[in-house]
Amino acid sequence: MDGTLSQNDISHVVDADRAHVWHHLIQHKPFETGEPRVIIEGRGMRVWDQNGKEFLDAVSGGVWTVNVGYGRESIANAVRDQLIKLNYFAGSAGSVPGALFSEKLISKMPGMTRVYFTNSGSEANEKAFKMIRQIAHKRHGGKKTKILYRDRDYHGGTIGTMSAGGQDERNIQYGPFVPDFIRVPHCMEYRAQQGWNPESESYGEWAANQIEEVILREGPDTVGGLCLEPVTAGGGVITPPEGYWPRVQEICRKYDILLHIDEVVCGVGRTGTHWFGYQHYGIEPDFVTMAKGVASGYAAIACCVTTERVFEMFKDDADDPMNYFRDISTFGGCTAGPAAALENMRIIEDEGLLENTTAMGERMMGNLEALMEKHRVVGDVRGKGLFLGAELVSDRATKEPVSEKQVGQVLAECGAQGVIIGSTNRSMRGFNNTLYFSPALIATPDDIDQITEAVDTALTRVFG
Ligand SMILES: Cc1ncc(COP(=O)(O)O)c(C=O)c1O
Repeated sequence: MDGTLSQNDISHVVDADRAHVWHHLIQHKPFETGEPRVIIEGRGMRVWDQNGKEFLDAVSGGVWTVNVGYGRESIANAVRDQLIKLNYFAGSAGSVPGALFSEKLISKMPGMTRVYFTNSGSEANEKAFKMIRQIAHKRHGGKKTKILYRDRDYHGGTIGTMSAGGQDERNIQYGPFVPDFIRVPHCMEYRAQQGWNPESESYGEWAANQIEEVILREGPDTVGGLCLEPVTAGGGVITPPEGYWPRVQEICRKYDILLHIDEVVCGVGRTGTHWFGYQHYGIEPDFVTMAKGVASGYAAIACCVTTERVFEMFKDDADDPMNYFRDISTFGGCTAGPAAALENMRIIEDEGLLENTTAMGERMMGNLEALMEKHRVVGDVRGKGLFLGAELVSDRATKEPVSEKQVGQVLAECGAQGVIIGSTNRSMRGFNNTLYFSPALIATPDDIDQITEAVDTALTRVFG
C-alpha cells in the first residue's frame, strides 16, 4: 500500500462502513463483533485490505470483472479527460467515446452491428428481453413472447432477469416472477441428466435436443427467444460439451427463435484467443449482452449488441409512432463507460492479453489437473481461458458434493495464505461445491502457480 491513508483514517472508514454500508451477497450479523473486509488499494493482480494485508486476487475483483488488472493510469486518464470534456448526455444523442467504442467493439464481432448502452449486466439482459417481447408483438401478433433460459445459468438480480434465473436457491423468497420465462435443462456432462443414452448420441447433442423438446412442448409459435451463457459461470463453470452449440443454433433457426448470448462474464477476453466466449463455438447470435470486463470495472458500462436484422425490425415503419425501441437507460448516457472501455480494449490488444489468457489458462488447467491427481476431493476441473472451476466431491463414484461449509473453509484457508478465490454460493441447493478461478488476463506463470499452490495447501488442511 502507498500509505496515503493514516491508520486513524482507515479505522474511521471501517467504522463508517460497519455502521452504514449494506454489502452485497453477505450476512451482516458477524460484523456486530468482527470487521467487514474493506479493500483499500489495488495494483496489477494484487489488493490490500484495511490491515495492510496483501492478497493475490484470483477472481478479478470478486466477480470476474477487473480483466486488465488494478491501477491502470491510462484508463483513469482517458476517463478524466472525457469527464472534463463531456461527462453525460442522454443516449437519445450520441457521444464521441460512445461512437468510437461501438465502432471498435463491432470490429471484433463479425455479424453484429448495433450497440445499446446500459449500466449493468442485468439491465443489458433486460433490454434483450424487452426487444424480444416487442418483436413478438410487432411481428408475431403477440405470440412468441416466451423466453427460454437454462438450468444453472444466471442473468442478473432484477425481478425480470431472476425470472430467467436457473439457480433456484438464489430465487428463494423473491418471487413471484415474470410469466413466460421457461426453463430448459443444463448441459453439464459431469452431472449428465437422466435419459441420455451414450450409445446413440453425444451428450452435447442430447442436451441440445432437450431444448427442442421444451420448444415442442410449449409450442414453437409461442417461443421468441433463447438466452444462454456461452460458458455457464456462477452455475458451476460449465463448458459446453462437443456438439452442443451447432445443434442449438440449428434449433433456433428451425423454429425462428432469437438467440441471446449472455457474455456478461465471458465477454472481452476472459475465455482467451477470442474476444467473446461464443466465438469459440461458431455461434451466430442475434443478441450479445456484456458488462463486467467491458471496462474492467473502471467505469460502469454494459451493452446489448444486436445484428442489423434485429435493428431493422424496429425501424421498418416510420409512420408508426410505436415502431421503435421505446426505452432509455439514464446512465447508459455516461461517457466515462465507453471512454474506459475503449482504452481497456487498446490495452488488451497492445499487451497481447487474449494470447496470454489462453497460455495462462492452459497452465492453470494443467495445475488443476495435477491437483485432481493428488486430492480425491477434486471430482472435476473445467473451464476456458482464465475462467476455471474445480468441483469438490466427498466421493468420486457417487459424485456426492462436499458441503458449502467445507468449500467456505477452503476459501478461508486460501485467504489466510493471501490468495482470494471464489466459489458457487447459495445458488443451487446442495451443489454449491465448485471453486472458481478468474485471475486478471495479465496473470504471469508465477501468479498462476501461487494460486494453485494455495489451493493445494488449503485442500490438504481441510480434507487431509
Ligand atoms: C452471466 C451473468 N449475467 C448477468 C449478470 C448480472 O450482471 P450485473 O450484476 O452487472 O447486473 C451476471 C452477474 O454476475 C452474470 O454472471
